[in-house]
Amino acid sequence: MIEKMKFLSLSDMQLMHKTVLVRVDLNVPTKDGKVTDVTRIESLLPTLQYLLNQQAKIVLISHFGRPEADTNPLKWDQKYSLRFIVPTLEKILNHSVQFVPNCVGSEVGQAIKNAAFPSILLLENLRFHKGEEKNDPFFAKQLAEFTNVYVNDAFSCSHRAHASVVGVTEYLPAAAGLSLECELKHLESCLNKPNHPLVAIVGGSKISTKLELLTNLCQKVDTLIIGGAMANTLLAADGIDVGQSLYEPELFELARTILKTSKAEILLPEDVVVASELTETAKSEVVSIHAITGDKKAFDLGPKTISKIMHVLENAKTVVWNGPVGAFEFAPFAHGTMSIAKALAEFTQKGQCMSVAGGGDSVAALSIAGVKDKLSYVSTAGGAFLEWLEGKPLPGVEALARKYSRTSI
Ligand code: 3PG
Repeated sequence: MIEKMKFLSLSDMQLMHKTVLVRVDLNVPTKDGKVTDVTRIESLLPTLQYLLNQQAKIVLISHFGRPEADTNPLKWDQKYSLRFIVPTLEKILNHSVQFVPNCVGSEVGQAIKNAAFPSILLLENLRFHKGEEKNDPFFAKQLAEFTNVYVNDAFSCSHRAHASVVGVTEYLPAAAGLSLECELKHLESCLNKPNHPLVAIVGGSKISTKLELLTNLCQKVDTLIIGGAMANTLLAADGIDVGQSLYEPELFELARTILKTSKAEILLPEDVVVASELTETAKSEVVSIHAITGDKKAFDLGPKTISKIMHVLENAKTVVWNGPVGAFEFAPFAHGTMSIAKALAEFTQKGQCMSVAGGGDSVAALSIAGVKDKLSYVSTAGGAFLEWLEGKPLPGVEALARKYSRTSI
């Protein structure tokens, strides 16, 4: 669990007419070169507006995807260039954005020098340089070179000990952006000092990707609801024949340990929606988990399980959700996930509980259910949200805290 950390905020810094390096997360989902979800961009508005009001030159840095790094810019795969995002940024920020085709070097220095106060510049993908992921001090220093202050407004990248997240804080005064602060405030209030009953819902296909998460949560929460294909592994480890459903036999031992040592009540499916294939037109039926036969696979929770979950959620005071409980992208298997999304929205809106969701799939499910803005908080983070729930320290947040402990204001 991350303890509440102290770090500098924007309001602690002298920012008037300063050049501010802002780490943002523009690693947004795209299709055919177009941004398909602008949530991460919208989350930057408060920080960028604050900096524009301070007449600052804003220098945005981000990664996009996982390109091969190379010392020769001619070898950079342009499909990972951040240039494509400029029109979307300009539209959402309602401000012009100047793109600079590198993130270090004299070209960057010149562009910053020529820019007016206030202005917004966007530098090229950080990951085109090897030094970024290696947290190379020389690269971090180069990033810092032409600016006065560093702001981390990328909570969703703060689990990466990369130069633009960690190393750069050695070379500039460093503060948390408003979106990062907002993420931490909400996440801390749901696991550090929650109102009980505290319920976690964890779904997704592979238990192997969420073992640490389950291990941490089953010691912290009152009820742990497990759905999605990962529930099959726990059921099978408990001796239930899940037929052809997806499960991970190599994890039986660990699954048994979770079931045996859990302080939380673990709620697993009692009935499921099964089919032979995962398609829009699949012939599905509801069966007890003791009656999954033939070539049938479980793709969603059944009505009995859903109604049990609804009862738990109705009485919960705090709910954390990560991962869909069924193959919700396909209509015949969306009911479980949609029911949870709608119930969380309803109970939150009635003031019965505080609800926090995170992870790409859960957020997509909330959007499809039309309730994304009805939960207490929806995290923009995927991996960082998961690592935070696992109780791991986030290097980006720790770097800000280290800097704070060495700064007198
Ligand atoms: C994310 O999308 O979760 C962040 O941008 C981090 O991306 P990464 O997993 O490629 O480091």
